[in-house]
Amino acid sequence: MNSRLNVITLDGPAGVGKSTLARLLAENLSIAYLDTGAMFRCLAIKLGPEVEKLPECDIHQCYAEFSFSIDGKGNATKLYCNGSLVGEDIRSEEVGLLAARIAVVPTVREMLEKAQRAMGEAAPLVAEGRDMGIVVFPDAKFKFFLNAAPKVRVERRLKDLEERGERVNPVELAERIRRRDEMDSNRAIAPLRPANDALLVDTSRLTVDEELDIMLRYIKKCP
Ligand code: DC
Repeated sequence: MNSRLNVITLDGPAGVGKSTLARLLAENLSIAYLDTGAMFRCLAIKLGPEVEKLPECDIHQCYAEFSFSIDGKGNATKLYCNGSLVGEDIRSEEVGLLAARIAVVPTVREMLEKAQRAMGEAAPLVAEGRDMGIVVFPDAKFKFFLNAAPKVRVERRLKDLEERGERVNPVELAERIRRRDEMDSNRAIAPLRPANDALLVDTSRLTVDEELDIMLRYIKKCP
């Protein structure tokens, strides 16, 4: 153990497989995982499509009514928003796009960063998102940045959505993911970017087991 925070960060673009890996990694290490995209999604549903036009005080007012917490470990980790379990209804690509839009609002980022940081300080966890390694947990013990070819990410997301019973047009989905990539990578605050001390993993040609193996070996190798 060193003096760094007992958090593992997992950043990367939409559809790269972060959630699956975060869950598996957490299960293997018997710690919790934090899906920070889910937090943005919950807030996006509440704030709605007009968020960019809302005055700051309205956003503060809205967030004042929000609280997040996690419970359990590994696969059994649960995220609660205002005491209610966060469910599958936030997972559509439409909500994802709305979340990417609210993610450019400085007040939103500040408020969520505070909540995420508090959870990481309270217990060891795997935190997945876009800015975990650079902004929220710069002092995390291990950092990973996952990437994959856009075509592969679209295929993975398509499979994901279909498994959830959502029918989507692949061309439209590719365009939505492209727009999200653009918003996430080019925003002024906390753009999607690997931390200097993150291990970069291109998952395009790897199976989930291979990805997990790379990460676990890296963690076990470090003192
Ligand atoms: O990981 P996801 O697809 O659930 O994330 C939805 C959106 O939320 C993503 O496009 C950008 C935003 N987000 C963010 O800006 N920072 C994070 N740490 C997590 C998500």
